[in-house]
Amino acid sequence: VTEKIQIAKDPASAVQTALTLGNYSGIAVLVDTHTRAHCYPLIKNDLPVHNVIEVPAGEEYKTLETCTKIWKELTAHGFDRDAVLIVLGGGVLGDMGGFCASTYKRGIAFILMPTTLLAQVDASIGGKLGVDFEHYKNHIGLFNEPVATLMVTSFLKTLPAREIKSGFAEIIKHCLSSDLKMWNAIRQKKVEEQDWEALIPHSIAFKSRIVSEDPKESGVRKILNLGHTIGHAIESHFLKAGQPLTHGEAIVIGLIAEAHISFQKKTLGKINLDQITGYLISEYGKCELPQSNELLPLMQQDKKNRGKEIRMALIDGVGRAVWDVKISENEIVNAISYYQSL
Ligand SMILES: NC(=O)c1ccc[n+]([C@@H]2O[C@H](COP(=O)([O-])OP(=O)(O)OC[C@H]3O[C@@H](n4cnc5c(N)ncnc54)[C@H](O)[C@@H]3O)[C@@H](O)[C@H]2O)c1
Ligand SMILES: [Zn+2]
Repeated sequence: VTEKIQIAKDPASAVQTALTLGNYSGIAVLVDTHTRAHCYPLIKNDLPVHNVIEVPAGEEYKTLETCTKIWKELTAHGFDRDAVLIVLGGGVLGDMGGFCASTYKRGIAFILMPTTLLAQVDASIGGKLGVDFEHYKNHIGLFNEPVATLMVTSFLKTLPAREIKSGFAEIIKHCLSSDLKMWNAIRQKKVEEQDWEALIPHSIAFKSRIVSEDPKESGVRKILNLGHTIGHAIESHFLKAGQPLTHGEAIVIGLIAEAHISFQKKTLGKINLDQITGYLISEYGKCELPQSNELLPLMQQDKKNRGKEIRMALIDGVGRAVWDVKISENEIVNAISYYQSL
């Protein structure tokens, strides 16, 4: 874990750290409806004079329209180049708030205080910022680093069970691609029984190591996209249909389908495929998928592709992942029908 990423013992000490990081001309705190209600009260009194910018909660609002609202409020409150934006929220706010801060007046400082499990173990690490565009996930954005990422695990106390499960999906992905032992430990327990005190730092360490080796995703960082080529297409599909899944719910389906592609490519054995699928279905249930021909065009827009070719990360034996593997449409069709047949 780098200096910039810290696990704070409570909200007050996170705020204290945040305030020592710069001599800011102003402080804006970005919240959504839920983090305003549940998290903001825990830091409010420790912050000096500041403005709160509130946006509606949910992936549906991870758009340029919401950015416009944020930029307008920053402008209306007169924030200058030396101001800081503290982003108090999950992955949606982190991606969008970081993007708004990085582009406002060509860039002001921002500090992430992730409040969801998903944001703590994944989204707030690695500098990917942006918003969705015309239902394509994270289509507009950039890479930029926050001044710091301050994790407060006690924020997770108010997080709904469905959101805990969403973040757990990324932890599963991290274990499948890097740590056979940890995968064997987590698959013995239900979501509710997991040891978060161990899993959160484990995921943070893994992701920050990969990101520091390859910050701009030209090589090894692509393994973090395991489950995401198909998962993002599924997430986009349900978002468009007006029945959004959580990010993790979509990624779980992507992990099953991509494990099946690894199986087709003979880099994952049948026993391991069954283990992965069995665990994920028992913890997350099954969901009705559209036909592959509705998902394929969404995958063709994926940022990991080279031109029209679909490339993805695959499992190369549990605990290892490879990247940039060329995938045929047929393999994807097979993987989707495998999921549907479960
Ligand atoms: N940048 C990256 O590298 C990266 C990686 C993974 C995911 N992501 C992005 O992250 C997003 C998903 O993030 P998310 O799952 O955190 O979603 P989210 O930010 O929408 O949060 C989920 C829900 O929980 C609520 N919430 C947040 N904190 C809470 C708390 N402490 N108590 C009660 N409610 C709380 C939110 O208001 C929201 O309703 C997606 O847009 C995805 O693309 C980005
Ligand atoms: Zn993800």
